[in-house]
Amino acid sequence: MHVHVADHPLISHKLTVLRDASTDSPTFRRLAEELVTLLAYEATRDVRVEPVTVTTPVAQAEGVRLSSPRPLVVPILRAGLGMLEGMQRLLPTAEVGFLGMIRNEETLVAETYAERLPDDLSGRQCYVLDPMLATGGTLVDAIDFLVRRGADHITAVTLLAAPEGVKHVEEQLADVDVPVTLVTAGLDERLDENGYIVPGLGDAGDRLYGVA
Ligand code: URA
Repeated sequence: MHVHVADHPLISHKLTVLRDASTDSPTFRRLAEELVTLLAYEATRDVRVEPVTVTTPVAQAEGVRLSSPRPLVVPILRAGLGMLEGMQRLLPTAEVGFLGMIRNEETLVAETYAERLPDDLSGRQCYVLDPMLATGGTLVDAIDFLVRRGADHITAVTLLAAPEGVKHVEEQLADVDVPVTLVTAGLDERLDENGYIVPGLGDAGDRLYGVA
């Protein structure tokens, strides 16, 4: 897996406010959205385009447009939903599929409880949205799901990642020959004994949706 930690002062600034426990949910949601739009710019560097000619008021110009099939954006429910609008701002024509995964808080293993994706993802570039790459279990399952459906290019976009989770995903993907990239705003120190990223930002779903 290629890991890209986005390095930009605006990304660091917004991430710092997100980390702050005193940031309220409306501010957290707005900043997360803005941050994802900046990450989306980095994450779409490899988005496939095809040549197109347009006529300007002056002459013909060679340009590009997004190729078919359209990219697929896959937010992992629940917290990934808070990243969808920020991604759609840059990729408004992308199709959106949903994967519902929840982490069993005792085993820390991810379970799939909902799925709404095209049956055939052959030739599709997929962008998986999940704010926190903690143990990596959810991302491994999501990537496995998409690869089994035929996806041939996967980019995961996260706000934060833990080194343990990145290592786990890399180990689990050793036999997957689909290119996978991780774009994240920060690679933190470690996981604590409850599977939280340290220093992290707490429970992203709770902070987005105001659940204590
Ligand atoms: N999920 C979260 O929302 N936060 C963490 O720190 C780890 C997993």
